[in-house]
Amino acid sequence: MSKSISIAVVGSGYVGLVAAVCFAEMGHEVICVDNDERKVVALQGGDTLIHEHYLPELLSRYRNGRVRFTTDLADATRKCAAIFIAVGTPQSETGDADLSYVEAVACEIARSIDSYKVIVEKSTVPVYTNEWISRAMERNGVDHSLFDVVSNPEFLREGTAVADFLHPDRIVVGADSERAGAILKDIYAPLTNGEYYQRADGIPGFCSVSEPPPLLMTSTKSAEIIKHASNAFLAMKISFINAVSNLCEAANANVEQVAKGMGLDTRIGPKFLRPGIGYGGSCFPKDVAAFRSVADQMGVDFSLLSEVEKINAQQKKRFVSKVRSALWNLRGKKLGVLGLAFKGETDDIRESPAIEIVKMLLAEGCSISAFDPAAAKRTEQILPASATLRYVDEAYDAAADADALLILTDWPEFAELDLKRLNQALRYPIVIDGRNLYDPHAMTEHGFTYLSVGRPAAYPVRDLASAPSR
Ligand code: UDX
Ligand code: UDX
Repeated sequence: MSKSISIAVVGSGYVGLVAAVCFAEMGHEVICVDNDERKVVALQGGDTLIHEHYLPELLSRYRNGRVRFTTDLADATRKCAAIFIAVGTPQSETGDADLSYVEAVACEIARSIDSYKVIVEKSTVPVYTNEWISRAMERNGVDHSLFDVVSNPEFLREGTAVADFLHPDRIVVGADSERAGAILKDIYAPLTNGEYYQRADGIPGFCSVSEPPPLLMTSTKSAEIIKHASNAFLAMKISFINAVSNLCEAANANVEQVAKGMGLDTRIGPKFLRPGIGYGGSCFPKDVAAFRSVADQMGVDFSLLSEVEKINAQQKKRFVSKVRSALWNLRGKKLGVLGLAFKGETDDIRESPAIEIVKMLLAEGCSISAFDPAAAKRTEQILPASATLRYVDEAYDAAADADALLILTDWPEFAELDLKRLNQALRYPIVIDGRNLYDPHAMTEHGFTYLSVGRPAAYPVRDLASAPSR
């Protein structure tokens, strides 16, 4: 039977909240700390605050029991053996990660620490952060025998974060002290020894008793770099396939076939080869920029990362050009937009390419009716409804009387629209799909002009003669 450890998680955002309920699910006692009192009260009352699969179930299992929510970091520090820092590490103006929240948390821990604690970096941070945390603690008068700093990066994808946490590909623990490493091993023991996967009420996923996740022990700095390098590599894979998709468009080839052919090579693998409108979200854009900036500061030329960013920025502009190529002039055109979140199955709109494209089209003089199953409310807070922007309650309302329909987020339900109904709703049956959710042949059979990413433009048979020349 694995040991129950007392854990504090500081930050109850997309990362911290998921970590807190998942640690409770693994049998630990968790105090989740946030300095936003409204959030704490909402969580205590059972509001999940974010759209995340399995979060409501786990929160109702453990709320105010094995997971308690508080603003009191000092009390949590004294009560817990391990303190996970999961506060935001936003991008600063120079591209570096802004670590001021991490520093504030370290200073507050320093003021209340009264026995040995392991301080765990869960937020994505640059390679030298563990040293800075140690220095901040020592500057505030804490003897180094009272703490260790370890790095335990998260690899959670929003939307599937709970299952990713409990069924990880790997657990990375960067610890320079055996004592701290041993505590982290105990924390993850229910996963690594397979115990969790014997439970009948466990969250389903691909790990099992016979195939539990591996735990990789590294130095603290290596773990910090693993996180940045992994995200930058995935972003690079996406930019690579986006550049290939542009080549496919120029050559009239099909990027889906090309990606399939590449992905069958096990050295390349099929994942993260979906072309689209560029990556977004709270991690890839900021982590690529931060990794580039760290390399710069250390005198290492990593200009490959600048190219990754350049391709990503161009991909959004290319999409707007594609809309123009289908509609001729943009000014005065009425567009339906499906999707505002940075990807499907989340309400997160941070760095959403969909919203950037909406802004560009509004600036070109289009009017837009937008629908998103979960992210409209958040979008409306930063982009209020106006004479040219309406938020509607379903996909067909977005399409109603529009000159074209744009698909900007890969929500599964957007791939299952009733094509007959959609065709009738639109003023002109034109669909411009930034996520390749439909088979071009099926679209032309339903009478659509269908433009997607990296695949030949498809026109209904009767329209072939009138297809614009490139
Ligand atoms: C963030 C980072 O964006 C990501 O890179 C990192 O890996 C983990 O932290 P996320 O959980 O999505 O990810 O951030 P966010 O939803 O902004 O949550 C951060 C939480 O920390 C907020 O609830 C905020 O109120 C809280 N916070 C922030 C504190 O409790 N104390 C602080 O000093 C600052
Ligand atoms: C990512 C990492 O996957 C995760 O390991 C890390 O901990 C946090 O950052 P997340 O941002 O939640 O997770 O989403 P992810 O599924 O990785 O997608 C990121 C962006 O890339 C989205 O905008 C998505 O639409 C885009 N994407 C993803 C593509 O354009 N093509 C792909 O093939 C995959």
